[in-house]
Amino acid sequence: MSIPQNRVFSGVQPTGNLHLGNYLGAITRFVELQKDFECIYCVVDLHAITVWQDPDTLSANTREVTAAFIASGIDPEKHIIFNQSRVPAHAELAWIFNCVARMGWLNRMTQFKEKAGKHRENASVGLFSYPNLMAADILAYRATHVPVGEDQKQHLELTRDIAQKFNTDFADSISKNGFGDGYFPLTEPLIQGTATRVMSLRDGSAKMSKSEASDYSRINLTDDADTIALKIRKARTDAEPLPSEMKGLEGRTEAENLVRIFAALGDRDLDDVLGEYGGSQFSTFKQALADLAVARLAPITEEMQRLCADPGHIDAVLSNGAARANAIAAPVLADIKQIMGLLHD
Ligand code: TYM
Repeated sequence: MSIPQNRVFSGVQPTGNLHLGNYLGAITRFVELQKDFECIYCVVDLHAITVWQDPDTLSANTREVTAAFIASGIDPEKHIIFNQSRVPAHAELAWIFNCVARMGWLNRMTQFKEKAGKHRENASVGLFSYPNLMAADILAYRATHVPVGEDQKQHLELTRDIAQKFNTDFADSISKNGFGDGYFPLTEPLIQGTATRVMSLRDGSAKMSKSEASDYSRINLTDDADTIALKIRKARTDAEPLPSEMKGLEGRTEAENLVRIFAALGDRDLDDVLGEYGGSQFSTFKQALADLAVARLAPITEEMQRLCADPGHIDAVLSNGAARANAIAAPVLADIKQIMGLLHD
């Protein structure tokens, strides 16, 4: 089997509170890439359990992320949507990568340091080796491109390091088994658009995140129109009117964040937005932003609610997607076992 040329893989954790950062940084890109790529989108439930999850909530959140994918415009018939734990190759390959990746590489992962915080000794082993499972997700499909927000960049660099080390460590066997110069592709991250790092609405120096205590820091995909408008009205800004060029936003992180969100939601250039709103007060701009956010998100929220009311349909999508994902990943795993000398059927 030769390396595919245009296969996209990406994942979203079912940990609740899907927000505007997930939508603009990842899900909208997932939708666009369907035109030119064979796409595989995964609800990464095995990543979610690196911190304790209530079982009923985990399954509800898995269905909710699936609904968000479909409601945003991902076509589960042309492309693949599934939940990670249904395809055993992910966990199996993650173990193999636990034996390829080096402790030093994982020790450098900033996300582990942020998530484990002061309680490092009490963090699960899974939270530490989380990036190896991510590499397994991607490489079980020999994916060539991975759309993500900026916060995942370091994990994708690690994925390339793992692929490279595997290709080097087993170069002779890879070639002897007819796989040429390297078995795994060096996957390209796709970190694109004006909103690759959406910031908190309360603090322009912190990323918009599912786990931030204040719900006013983010716009959730489940928020209704009034809540969205209220959160935007309350968003922190400064006292100056908007500038008419990007350089006027230097050092004004909260203002820049709102302008970036506006541009991404309206599919417009940053300069174009500032050309229109330069000189405006935030009261005017926030009203326009709230209207735009509601116009864009309300139909998705409504469709998510409709889909979540029929969990049987969502489960059928996930099960069908998993069967198709497994049909790609299982032969890859068999190749890897062959390459490594692990006897297999
Ligand atoms: P997760 O579930 O935290 O986030 C899902 C996607 O949303 C992006 N994102 C953001 N983008 C812009 N601004 C923000 N404030 C923001 N917050 C989140 C993330 O970058 C991500 O693209 N480890 C991954 C899930 C994963 C994965 C993979 C991704 C598991 N296996 C394989 C790609 C390939 C994560 O925790 O994403």
